[in-house]
Amino acid sequence: MTSIRKIRGFSDIMGPEARKFRLMEERASAVFGRYGYDELRMPLLERTELFARSIGSDTDVVQKEMFTFPDRKGRYVTLRPEATAGAVRAYIENKLYSGQNLTKVFTVGPMFRYERPQKGRQRQFHQVNAEAFGSASPLLDAEMVLMLWTYLGELGLTDLTLQINSLGCRECQPEYARRLQEYLRDTDADGFCSDCRERRERNPLRLLDCKQTQCQELMREAPSMLDCLCEECRPHFNTVMDNLQRMGIAYEVNSRLVRGLDYYQRTTFEVLSGEIGAQSSVAGGGRYDDLVRQLGGPDHPAIGFACGMERLSLLLDDPAPADTDFYVAILDDNGLAQGMRICEDLRRKGLSGEMSYETGSLKSQVRHADRIGARYCIFLGRDELESGRLTVRDMGSGEQYQREAEALPELLGQ
Ligand code: HAM
Repeated sequence: MTSIRKIRGFSDIMGPEARKFRLMEERASAVFGRYGYDELRMPLLERTELFARSIGSDTDVVQKEMFTFPDRKGRYVTLRPEATAGAVRAYIENKLYSGQNLTKVFTVGPMFRYERPQKGRQRQFHQVNAEAFGSASPLLDAEMVLMLWTYLGELGLTDLTLQINSLGCRECQPEYARRLQEYLRDTDADGFCSDCRERRERNPLRLLDCKQTQCQELMREAPSMLDCLCEECRPHFNTVMDNLQRMGIAYEVNSRLVRGLDYYQRTTFEVLSGEIGAQSSVAGGGRYDDLVRQLGGPDHPAIGFACGMERLSLLLDDPAPADTDFYVAILDDNGLAQGMRICEDLRRKGLSGEMSYETGSLKSQVRHADRIGARYCIFLGRDELESGRLTVRDMGSGEQYQREAEALPELLGQ
């Protein structure tokens, strides 16, 4: 019978890769916890409308990349392509704002985008996200970037580039869009890819984001958003930059950093790595001050970011597997029950280890103890059963000891 294989763009995460994922999750919870973030776990499946209304119907994500299908009653649902829309829905639906000015959450988990798989790009990928609701202060923007930077630093990742930009607010962004449209009217429409041709009137900011070289070439002389910032957005952005400088975080200003999702306003940022190939963005985020209101909630500003775990994983060294303290090798059938007892007593003392469930040769069992990285191998054969004293081998030095079962925890260092 032919075996069933996984779906293209989906992967099994195991061994050292799974250990890296655990490390990223544990560090996220530890670092974000220090900044006051609480975990939020959300559904993987949401109504399609949520993403169309938040990410924007002109974006690649919504137009081409969503896993969307009707449920059994014909209602359209989508496997979440990102976490921000769901976090905003949860914020509104659960009134997470009641009784507090600021709500800070983080979430970790799988996202789904139907993109062409390649190194650093999967159809099911994983993100670590952080979102803060309820403040428009530029200090929060700077702290958000600082928290991301701290997280990446605590993962041991330092050789990264931080880019930032401001996209203006509901007052000045439309003015910038108008300027861009004017510029585009004077630019040869046929030179753009078909997506850009379609989006140039309706959503000109999206053209800054296009990855096609011919489009990037045509946008080279486009006006900069930074020249259009209003009287409130300009000082807001300056304060973000001042505070980043004060906190010793080096950044580059990239006035073309519009990011691929429509909800952004004011500060946007991205972290890039030169070491992982074409998919170089390891994290990205920004403000989405209008999104809560647009999705039917109160007029609360918000900001957040997401890190791509598969991409961070490409940069991380393999973490060592957890220590194994012992292996109980059974050399006589009569030792099986006692072996199980010994294992369990040691585990209850906080030591980790395994036993052989069948009697085997000394050589094969020592080999197994070695393979699982056990610090000690405990032998249970006829002599040990008769004398009540177990043979314990220190797998590092090769030294052997005779001990009664009760003395094992002390010998093993507990
Ligand atoms: P995003 O830039 O679409 O932003 O994704 C964030 C990160 O997810 C990217 O920088 C990348 O590392 C990773 N990523 C995206 N697509 C894939 C893929 N197909 N395969 C592997 N990794 C991928 C967002 O998702 C926003 N929701 C971030 C945010 C949170 N903004 C505000 N709050």
